[in-house]
Amino acid sequence: MIRENISLLPYNTFGIDVKARYLATFGSLAELHELCGQVTASGLPYMVIGGGSNLLFTRDFDGWIIKPDMQGLRVLETDAGSCLMEADAAVVWDDFVACCVRQQLYGAENLSLIPGTTGASAVQNIGAYGVEAKDIIETVNCMEISTGKIFRFRNEELQYGYRTSRFKTEWQRRFVVTAVCYRLSRIPKLNLNYKGLCEAVEQQDNPDRLSAVRQAVIGIRRAKLPDPAETGNAGSFFMNPVIPKTHFERLQAQYPAIPHYLLSDGQVKIPAAWLIEQCGWKGKTLGKAGVHSKQPLVLINTGGASGTDIATLADRIINDVYNHFGIKLHPEVIFL
Ligand code: EPU
Repeated sequence: MIRENISLLPYNTFGIDVKARYLATFGSLAELHELCGQVTASGLPYMVIGGGSNLLFTRDFDGWIIKPDMQGLRVLETDAGSCLMEADAAVVWDDFVACCVRQQLYGAENLSLIPGTTGASAVQNIGAYGVEAKDIIETVNCMEISTGKIFRFRNEELQYGYRTSRFKTEWQRRFVVTAVCYRLSRIPKLNLNYKGLCEAVEQQDNPDRLSAVRQAVIGIRRAKLPDPAETGNAGSFFMNPVIPKTHFERLQAQYPAIPHYLLSDGQVKIPAAWLIEQCGWKGKTLGKAGVHSKQPLVLINTGGASGTDIATLADRIINDVYNHFGIKLHPEVIFL
C-alpha cells in the first residue's frame, strides 16, 4: 500500500512530526517486488524503517519510506539441540523473544523488551546484557531494491560488529530485509555475566530460569530506560566509544574512577553514559530536548521537540565530551 504526504509521527519512537512524500508498506514478496520497480523508476531517495526506534527525523523526507508489514513466524527445523525459527521482518522483536521464552528456546532472552522489529535486529545488530542479535542470527533474507532479486545471506557474510553490519556500511540502502532466521538452543544455557543480572534473576523467585531472565531484564530496562510510549526516545543515542590504551591511561591518571572495559584488541571501551554524566548533562534539558535522568546515554523528547532540537542537544553533548576528555562520541541513532 502506498500513501502520499504522510506524517511520520506514528512511525518513530522519538515522536518527531515530519512528513514523507510516500509511505509504502508491503505484505508479501510480490508486493515488495512491484514496489522496488516503482521506487527505482521514480529516482527518489528511499529509506527502509522497522519500528522507527533508532531514527531521528530532522526534516520532511522527499522520497520513499518503505516499511515491511509481513508478520509471519515459522519453525523451519527442529531437533534435540536447537530450533531454527524464521521471522518475517515486521515481527515485533519483543514478541519474538517472548515466543522463544514460552517455548523454552534459549538465546534471545537477554534482548527482552528492546523496541523495534526482527528486520532491524539484523541490520543494527541490537545488543544488551552481554548478548547481540548476531549471536543467534543464522541467515537473513533480502530483496535488492534496484533489481527486485532475492538473496539469502549467511551470518558470516554480514560483517557483524558492535551495532553494525554490512547493511549499514557497504550495502547501505541496497537491500530490504524481508525475513531473519534465528538459531535458538533447546539446551539450557544462560548468559548472566552482565553486572547485576545474576542477582536480579535470583530475586525473581521463578523456578523457570529462562523466564526469570526475561523478567529480570525487563525489570532492569524499565528501571533505567524511558518507555517510548510515554516519553519519546530512541534508546541509547550514542555508541560507547573505543579509545587507544595510551589515551585511556592518560584519562585514568586524571580520573581514577573512570569505568572501562578492556577489549581483546587492546583498546578500551568507555561507557558514554559516564562521560555525559561527568559533563553535567544527566537529567538536563535544552529547550524541548532532554537527557534522561536515570541513563544519560538516552536523549528524550520532553514534549513537542523537533528533530533539530534533539540534534542541537546531541551536538552540545558531543562538544562538551570532546572538550573534557578528547573523545568523540558517535550517534547510534540514524539521522534523516
Ligand atoms: N553509567 C553512568 N551513569 C549513569 C548510567 C551509567 O556513569 O547514569 C555508567 C556506569 O559506569 C555503568 C555504565 O555506564 O556501569 C554502563 O551502563 P549500562 O550498563 O546501563 O549500559 P550502557 O553501556 O550505558 C549499553 C547499551 C544498551 C544496553 C546496555 C546493557 C550501547 C550504546 N548501549 O548501554 O543498549 O541496554 O548496555 O547491555 O551499547 C541501545 O542500544 O539502545 C541500548 C539501550
